[in-house]
Amino acid sequence: PGDRPSSGPLSGRRVVITGGGTREPLDPVRYLGNRSSGKQAVAIAEQALAAGADVTLIAAAMTAQPPAGAEVVDVESTQELLEAVLEHAPGADALVMAAAVADFRPVDVAETKIKKGEDGSSPTLVLERTPDVLATAVAERAAGADMPGLIVGFAAETGDGESSVLEYAQAKLARKGCEMLVVNDVGAGRVFGRDETEVTVLFADGREPVSRAGDKTDAARLVVEQMTLAL
Ligand code: CTP
Ligand code: CA
Repeated sequence: PGDRPSSGPLSGRRVVITGGGTREPLDPVRYLGNRSSGKQAVAIAEQALAAGADVTLIAAAMTAQPPAGAEVVDVESTQELLEAVLEHAPGADALVMAAAVADFRPVDVAETKIKKGEDGSSPTLVLERTPDVLATAVAERAAGADMPGLIVGFAAETGDGESSVLEYAQAKLARKGCEMLVVNDVGAGRVFGRDETEVTVLFADGREPVSRAGDKTDAARLVVEQMTLAL
């Protein structure tokens, strides 16, 4: 099914793409979440399919429609996303971490719906750090596990008086240990919920960054072109 050609620059390659935004449960009906739609991951999946790749899309509460032809694995929490990546990334050629992953989650998840109670008090949420899925994949690979040789991270950054967007992104690339980092400048009201973006791809091997302005499809084309060159 789908539009996957039998030949193309990525034919015979398998790409695992995460997208959407993770949800961290508070109780059976409530969660902490974010506004990521998964549009960028879907656009990358479409470009990878068009280039002939086998695509697994690990979809964290995505509202965007996954493309026909991709294998879709639905997840909600960061823990589920981590488990899905550890299950599906081995044997793949590339892992693309486009998902907006929660940084924090409630320490305790109530087994029953949290009630207001009679005394008018409000609960205090106590949070802990979530596992870093990207950093875990990189660490597993360094420890000898079967993980893709090409791991691509994403970062939405804003510049400030101290450092530029690209300086922050370069530091994040080094910290994460992945091969490529796709950076969106989200300063001054750009990107969130909008179609126009400017993306820059940074490389761990010291190659010059490449940038492209346009919509999420243009960004996805740039990412898949650069992945194709790297594979
Ligand atoms: N990421 C991840 N697991 C997390 C947090 C982030 O795998 N718990 C991944 C994202 O999918 C993305 C990359 O790491 O590809 C960078 O995410 P970002 O939020 O920019 O970086 P953080 O390390 O979380 O740093 P901060 O939010 O403090 O800037
Ligand atoms: Ca984060």
